[in-house]
Amino acid sequence: MGDAPAIAHLSRDLIEADLPWSWTPRRVASLMRQRESAAVIARDQNRLAGFILAQYGDESAHIALLGVADEYRRQGIGRRMVQWVEETAMVAGLFLVRLEVRAIKREARHFYARLGYRETDRVDGYYSGLEDAIKMSRDLRALSTSK
Ligand SMILES: CC(C)(COP(=O)(O)OP(=O)(O)OC[C@H]1O[C@@H](n2cnc3c(N)ncnc32)[C@H](O)[C@@H]1OP(=O)(O)O)[C@@H](O)C(=O)NCCC(=O)NCCS
Repeated sequence: MGDAPAIAHLSRDLIEADLPWSWTPRRVASLMRQRESAAVIARDQNRLAGFILAQYGDESAHIALLGVADEYRRQGIGRRMVQWVEETAMVAGLFLVRLEVRAIKREARHFYARLGYRETDRVDGYYSGLEDAIKMSRDLRALSTSK
């Protein structure tokens, strides 16, 4: 829980830049406290290099937040954190992982596409009525049977 403020500040800078700050320390802490959620962080000494927050529902897991600090990108940290969520989802019997990404974030959409996520829908004004979201998801069933 002690990482909640740092996660919130990094979220504001990496994910919510130019949008109202919705993932405040209080909201991040509240999500982390829920029994149905999990948070994983990547740490370099005392520095927060990356984080992922996921919620596990009855039928799917949902990635609520994912970010890797600029200086730690393209080292496979984001990929490994998403894989961690996928593996824990399968252990929980969930074979679908969902998320929303800012439509203007081409790099993030490309990142998820490389990891096997498909764009399924566009939601107008999803972010504070200001920006659209792209919904993406990955069906993990093929993954579980190939192991
Ligand atoms: C998207 C993000 C999490 C990726 O993290 P990362 O640790 O750099 O990603 P990885 O190193 O695991 O990349 C895995 C693959 O995704 C693709 N990829 C990652 N970043 C990319 C970029 N900026 N442009 C194009 N493709 C990219 C590449 O194919 C990469 O493999 P490669 O480096 O071998 O070519 C990071 O850029 C980020 O935090 N962005 C800002 C916040 C955000 O948009 N979050 C997601 C929405 S909530």
